[in-house]
Amino acid sequence: MPAAVAAVDEQTGLIKKGAWQLVAAHCGGCHSLQLVTSNRGDRQIWLETIRWMQERQNLWQLDPQTEDQILTYLADNYPASAPRRRKPLAAHLLPTN
Ligand code: HEC
Repeated sequence: MPAAVAAVDEQTGLIKKGAWQLVAAHCGGCHSLQLVTSNRGDRQIWLETIRWMQERQNLWQLDPQTEDQILTYLADNYPASAPRRRKPLAAHLLPTN
């Protein structure tokens, strides 16, 4: 498999790297993990998302080590800088009118 293509777990849709099983265990109970994988953020944004769920949505406290591993996983695999749109089409591929 080319190194650039990350393996994705079929059941959860999570990129199988690092602490993905922790994320599967802690983040799929209330909503689909697709909600997780379809979001993007740097570490701070993911932290704020977790804090918001803890304050408003009954997310349990994560022990500091678990939280750290989850944040690292999310920021590494679903980062804010990931391109979310394809590149624009080249001019010669655009229709003429
Ligand atoms: C105790 C229940 C619960 C758990 C566990 C939980 N969440 Fe959530 N989360 C929610 C609720 C409720 C929402 C709002 C859902 C909606 O808007 O449909 C939400 C929304 C989200 C969103 C979307 C936020 C937005 O801005 O729209 C993301 C991303 C997210 N959760 C990530 C996670 C991650 C990562 C974990 C694991 C650390 C996690 N969730 C675990 C309850 C939970």
